[in-house]
Amino acid sequence: MSFDLVFFGGTGDLTWRKLMPALFQAFRHGKLPAAGRILSVARDELSDEQYRAWLKERFQEVDDAKRPNDEEFARFAELLHYRRMDLSQPADYARLKSWLQGRGADSAVLYLATSPHLFPMICEQLGAAGLNGPQVRVVLEKPLGHDLASAQEINRVVRSVFSETQAFRIDHYLGKPSVQNLMALRFGNALFEPLWRRESIANIQITLAESLGVGTRGEFYNQTGALRDMVQNHALQLLTMVAMEPPSSNDADAIRDEKLKVLRSLKPFTEDSVGRDVVRGQYRPGNAAGHPAVGFLQEQNVPADSRCETFVALRTEVQNWRWAGVPFYLRTGKRLASREAQIVVNFRPTPHNIFPGFNAPNKLVIKLQPEDGLELHLLAAKGANQQEALSPVSLDLDFDKAFAENRVGAYERLLLDALAGRLNLFVRSDEQEQAWRFVEPILQAWSKDQAGPRPYAAGTWGPAAASALVARDNFAWDEEQ
Ligand code: BG6
Repeated sequence: MSFDLVFFGGTGDLTWRKLMPALFQAFRHGKLPAAGRILSVARDELSDEQYRAWLKERFQEVDDAKRPNDEEFARFAELLHYRRMDLSQPADYARLKSWLQGRGADSAVLYLATSPHLFPMICEQLGAAGLNGPQVRVVLEKPLGHDLASAQEINRVVRSVFSETQAFRIDHYLGKPSVQNLMALRFGNALFEPLWRRESIANIQITLAESLGVGTRGEFYNQTGALRDMVQNHALQLLTMVAMEPPSSNDADAIRDEKLKVLRSLKPFTEDSVGRDVVRGQYRPGNAAGHPAVGFLQEQNVPADSRCETFVALRTEVQNWRWAGVPFYLRTGKRLASREAQIVVNFRPTPHNIFPGFNAPNKLVIKLQPEDGLELHLLAAKGANQQEALSPVSLDLDFDKAFAENRVGAYERLLLDALAGRLNLFVRSDEQEQAWRFVEPILQAWSKDQAGPRPYAAGTWGPAAASALVARDNFAWDEEQ
């Protein structure tokens, strides 16, 4: 199968930091279809050779394990091409079209790695140039929109040019191997499904914690905030994968229909419930990996009076028969105590206890980062004598070790899926809009709230109110248990 892969924003951060290294890994692992061309387009005037040299330089900043040696880069570079393009100029799209038609590959994947405010214009221009035939797929990077109305506007334009099956909306969390494993765990095994419901589960916690601050992205982040950056997309996508009903098949739409139903079942926020069930925070000076760290307001390109949140914790419920009354807690933030992404399923205690003093409920921890694995926490007898203390033990599965040969990074996986036309791990427009509908009342309530975000010291687990949110239901966040 032959392909052309075009990166709009070919000299941007996303392209050289994430997309090119991921493509190189696919190339190194022999997973890229053989007959392929990769074209980067951007405003700079560069020849193919100059672009390749520039990219080679950028690769020096990539993790050692992911960096090509000279010989590997030279072979990879044979696939790379560059064209200057002014994205507002129809003539430049006509040139792109003749470049693509010059070879007539089986598929043309157009990856919009530009600022999202350009997406509608680019899509319109692609449509006007006739670059929307059935062999064309368009990949849209997040953030898709700033709120529901802007997301709907982007989707309207995308739909006017491309069919839904040509639109690949990326959420890179869906490409993480552990998220795939969540599907396998739930629907490839009979063991957990009977327990996966309100009768057995007390609460579910989704934590996406980062230890880094906003770094050089202060300007972007200040206009975005943690709710739009992480909750509207990554955290809610994980929630749908945990809470969805078994799909009737592994088809993209069968899965996405079920995810959409979860999003539609989420308890809607009101102005009052935002005050009660959502905590927003902003980091202040503190520590990061044992070194002093500045606060958000001191970061580069962040105004000193910014009210942008760098932390969100919220409590929600999935209002259906399976989950009625089970709290789902989500939290995410920058400059937290550690880099840790995990889903914790806390089971209910035994109904009758014959071991006085020992009734720690079971829990299943689905670990996304830094390790990728599963832990099932149980109680076991330490000695032969029943009177002796029970001890917590855990069954640990390390997917990185178990499947070392086949580990594929999120972007690598998603790029390969886009090239193969597999939509399962991409977000449909209705899902994405429903997720905006869920966060919109929070944005509105915050815009009226004079109090602003609660401060927390860098290197901690966020404002104390986040612990109180869970303690109110007599639960605790995983690291506090
Ligand atoms: C991105 C956000 O979508 O996800 C970043 O824009 C965040 O702010 C990143 O740092 C986290 O991704 P990962 O894969 O490193 O957990």
